[in-house]
Amino acid sequence: MQISQLTAQQINQAVALWEATGLTRPWNDPYADAQRALDTPTSTVLAVIEEDKVVSTAMVGHDGHRGWLYYVAVDPLKQGTGLGSTMVQAATSWLVDRGVPKVQLMVRNENAAVLNFYERLGFVDQNVVVLGKRLDAST
Ligand SMILES: CC(C)(COP(=O)(O)OP(=O)(O)OC[C@H]1O[C@@H](n2cnc3c(N)ncnc32)[C@H](O)[C@@H]1OP(=O)(O)O)[C@@H](O)C(=O)NCCC(=O)NCCS
Repeated sequence: MQISQLTAQQINQAVALWEATGLTRPWNDPYADAQRALDTPTSTVLAVIEEDKVVSTAMVGHDGHRGWLYYVAVDPLKQGTGLGSTMVQAATSWLVDRGVPKVQLMVRNENAAVLNFYERLGFVDQNVVVLGKRLDAST
């Protein structure tokens, strides 16, 4: 299995995968998210391509200390075959190669079932509440 950086031409397919796996939200533009990650030196989107089809992704980026994973997704027809674990490990290696000492990710409350998956990969609750505020709307 080959893990490569997503190309700009493959963004449409990646977004289709994110939609199929329930990762998109109306207030986020996944096309812009992907393009931004590819255009920024401290982030990327990793992908597994099979027969010209994007079957798995992980967006990864860092601020020097913390690395973050987003859009961890596997084609529903391929789930349960180890692809998700492989992608998380590949994204983690991408961070390790850049000297980043920590990896984190956010799981939406409604997706708590996936916590098992990450716990098996060694992730633990950081006992932190994440606060956020949109900067693209008037306050
Ligand atoms: C979560 C996801 C990436 C896992 O990918 P995958 O290829 O199915 O995972 P793996 O085959 O590597 O599974 C590893 C283990 O985690 C378990 N697991 C996978 N998904 C799980 C889930 N949703 N809930 C509970 N356990 C899960 C598997 O049973 C497997 O256990 P095993 O080794 O004992 O068989 C995939 O299910 C997916 O795309 N889900 C929808 C998108 C999503 O929720 N992404 C995470 C956003 S935070």
